Amino acid sequence: MEKSSLLIASIAFLLLISRSNGDARTQVIKVFCDEEIHNDDTYFVPNYVQAMEIVSTEMQTSHNATVEVGTGPNTNYVLAQCYNDLSSQDCMLCYAETRTVFPSCYPRNGGRIYLDGCFMRLQNYSFYEEYTGSYDTIVCGNITRESVEFQNSTKQAVLNVVADALSNDEYFGRGEVVVVPGNKSVYVMAECWRTLSPGNCRKCLENASEVISKCLPWSEGRALNTGCFMRYSDTNFLNPIQQTGGSKNKGKMVAIIISIISSVLVLAVALMIVLYIKRYKYIQHMRRGSYDVEKLAKILTDSSLNFKYSTIEKATANWDESNKLGQGGFGTVYKGVLSDGREIAVKRLYVNNKFRAADFYNEVNIISSVEHKNLVRLLGCSCSGPESILVYEYLPNMSLDLFIFDEIKGKELNWEKRFQIIIGTTEGLVYLHENTKNRIIHRDIKASNILLDLRLRAKIADFGLARSFQDDKSHISTAIAGTLGYMAPEYLAHGQLTEKADVYSFGVLLLEIVTGMENNKSNTMEYTDSLISTTWKHFQKGTVEQIFDPNLFMDIYPNTIFKKDAIKVVHVGLLCTQEAPSLRPTMSNVLKMLAKDDEHLPFPSNPPFIDEKTMELNNITKKLLHDHEGESSSSIATVSHSEFYPR
Ligand SMILES: *[C@@H]1O[C@H](CO)[C@@H](O)[C@H](O)[C@H]1NC(C)=O
Ligand SMILES: *[C@@H]1O[C@H](CO)[C@@H](O)[C@H](O)[C@H]1NC(C)=O
Ligand SMILES: *[C@@H]1O[C@H](CO)[C@@H](O)[C@H](O)[C@H]1NC(C)=O
Ligand SMILES: *[C@@H]1O[C@H](CO)[C@@H](O)[C@H](O)[C@H]1NC(C)=O
Ligand SMILES: *[C@@H]1O[C@H](CO)[C@@H](O)[C@H](O)[C@H]1NC(C)=O
Ligand SMILES: *[C@@H]1O[C@H](CO)[C@@H](O)[C@H](O)[C@H]1NC(C)=O
Repeated sequence: MEKSSLLIASIAFLLLISRSNGDARTQVIKVFCDEEIHNDDTYFVPNYVQAMEIVSTEMQTSHNATVEVGTGPNTNYVLAQCYNDLSSQDCMLCYAETRTVFPSCYPRNGGRIYLDGCFMRLQNYSFYEEYTGSYDTIVCGNITRESVEFQNSTKQAVLNVVADALSNDEYFGRGEVVVVPGNKSVYVMAECWRTLSPGNCRKCLENASEVISKCLPWSEGRALNTGCFMRYSDTNFLNPIQQTGGSKNKGKMVAIIISIISSVLVLAVALMIVLYIKRYKYIQHMRRGSYDVEKLAKILTDSSLNFKYSTIEKATANWDESNKLGQGGFGTVYKGVLSDGREIAVKRLYVNNKFRAADFYNEVNIISSVEHKNLVRLLGCSCSGPESILVYEYLPNMSLDLFIFDEIKGKELNWEKRFQIIIGTTEGLVYLHENTKNRIIHRDIKASNILLDLRLRAKIADFGLARSFQDDKSHISTAIAGTLGYMAPEYLAHGQLTEKADVYSFGVLLLEIVTGMENNKSNTMEYTDSLISTTWKHFQKGTVEQIFDPNLFMDIYPNTIFKKDAIKVVHVGLLCTQEAPSLRPTMSNVLKMLAKDDEHLPFPSNPPFIDEKTMELNNITKKLLHDHEGESSSSIATVSHSEFYPR
C-alpha cells in the first residue's frame, strides 16, 4: 500500500517535471520611466487598463502585440514582444511580469521595460519605427573572462547572430560559438521589435553589436536598445528551439508525456524512489514549512480531486469555442459536461505552475476543502496533465455584472433579491477572512466574480487561487491590472495586501449593486465622475435616492423601509471604500451593520479622491509613494488619489 502510493507519487512528480518546457526568463533587467507626467488622468488610466487588456489577449496567441487606445495626446501606444525562444506559456508569464512591474512608472507618461524574456513599451505617440535613442544602454555582468579567445568568440557569435536575425522575418537570431581551446561556449541572442523596417532593424542590431562589445571582458552582456535587444553570456540561457503552433505543441507534449509514462513504468521502482526523494528534498528546501511525505502521496493519489486531462478535454469538446464562458484574471473558463452528465466549469490557467507543482496541489487541496454556501466549490484540478486546470461547480445563471449593469436583465433583480445577494456575498467573505484554519484574501472581488445559482443566491468565484501565487508576483499581475476600479489605493500603489483590500472592493461592489452603475468604465471616452465620488457627493447632500438603480423598486410600491435599507447599504459601501484601511470595517462588522437595524454606523470619511482641484500632482505622487504607512494621519487627509482612478 505504502509502496504503491509512493510509486504513483513518483510518476506524478515525473510528469510535473516533464511539463517544464523552458524558462520564461522573467527577471527584470531595467525599467525606464519617462520624465513627463501624463496629460490627463481621466483618460490615461482607462486607456492604459484597456490597452493592457488587449495586449494580454493578443499575447495569448502571439509573441508580439501593438495596441493603440484613445485619441489625441491621451492615446496609449503599446508595444509588447516576447523573444522568440519562449514558449507561448512562458511568453504569457513574462508579459504578466511586465504588467506587474510597469505601473511603477505611474504617473509618468510612458516608459519601457526590459526583461530577459520580453519587452514592453508605452508612449503617447507612435514610436514603432524608433530604433536608437537616449535611453539605450548596456548592462554587463560582474565576472570577468579575461581570455582573448572568449572575447574573440563572443564577437564572432554576435556577428553570426546579427546575420541570422536579419535573414528571417522574425528578426530573431540565436547562436553558440565554442571557445577554443576549452569546452566552454558563448551564447548569444538578438531580436528586433517586429514593427521595425528591415533597414532599421539592421541599424539597431549593428549599434547593439558595437555597444555590447564594451561589456567584454565580462562574462555576460546585454544591449538594451530602443528597437532591439541583444544578450551574450557564457552560460546557456537559451530555451530549446520551440515548435511553432500551439496545438501541435500540445499534442507533442502529450506524446512526450505518454512516452515518459511507458518508459517510467519499465524503469526500476528503485530509480523512481531515488528521484522522488531527490525531488521531495528539493521541495522541502523550497517550502518554508515541512511537508509530510505520506500526506503528499495521499493528496496526489486522491482520485476525487484529480481529473484526468483527457476527461477534461472530452468534457469541453476539445476546448470548443462554443463552450467558452469567459475570461478571468487567471485563465479562460469553459463549460464542460462529464460523462455522467455532471456540468462543470473548467478554468484553463494562463500559467503552468510547473516549478511549484506540489505547493499548487496543496493549495488546490486547501481551497477545495473550503465549503460555504456562498462560495463556488472547487471540485479539483488536472494537475498532472500538460496544462494547469481547475475544475469548479457550474452555475447556470452566470455572474452578477450581467444583471446589474444591464437595463433589461436588471429588472430580474429587485431590491429584495439584491439585498439577499449582498448578504450572501458578505457571509462568503466573512468565512474566507475569518475562518481560522486558512484565512484567505480574495484579491479580486468584483461583480463578475459573484456568480448566481438557480435561485439567484450569491456565490463568490475565483477565491483562494491568488494565495498560491502569493510569493510569485508574475502570477497575480493579470488580476492586478485587470480590475483597477475595484482596487484599494494602498494595494494599487504599494502592493500592501490585507483583508481590507477586499473590503474596499466589496464597498465598490455595494455601490454598484445599488446604483446599477459601473465604477470602472474604462471604455467610454466621455468624462464621468467615478461612482464613488458621485455617491459620496450625493450622500453628503442627502440625495442618495437620486442615483438608485430605477430597476430596484419596480415591483414594490414606493416603500420607505426598502429605501432606508438601500441608503444603509450605500452608507456601508462608503465606509468600506474609505482611504485609510484601518477605518474600513471588517467583513463581520459589515455583516452586523447590514443585518441589524439598530447598529450604529459612523459617518464615513472622504473616499480616496475628492477635492482634486486643490491638489498639486507632485504632492499626490509623494503621498502615494511615502505616506502609505501613516494610516492614522491619512484618516483626516482629504488628499486626492484620483490619479489612480479611472472615472
Ligand atoms: C506580430 O508581428 C507581425 C509582424 O509585424 C505581425 O504580422 C503580427 O500581426 C503581429 N502580431 C500581433 C498580435 O500584433
Ligand atoms: C504626450 O503627452 C505630453 C504631456 O504629458 C504632451 O505634452 C504631448 O504633446 C503628448 N504627445 C502627443 C503626441 O500627443
Ligand atoms: C548607438 O546608439 C546610441 C543611441 O543613439 C548612440 O549614442 C551611439 O553612439 C550608437 N553607437 C554606435 C556605435 O553606433
Ligand atoms: C554578481 O552578480 C550576481 C547577480 O547579479 C550577484 O548575485 C553577485 O553577488 C555579484 N557578484 C559580485 C562580486 O558583485
Ligand atoms: C582575436 O582576434 C584578433 C583580432 O581579430 C586577432 O588578431 C587575434 O589573433 C585573435 N586571437 C585569437 C586567440 O584567436
Ligand atoms: C573538457 O571536458 C572534458 C570532459 O567533459 C574534461 O575531461 C576536460 O578536462 C575539459 N577540458 C577543459 C579544457 O576544460
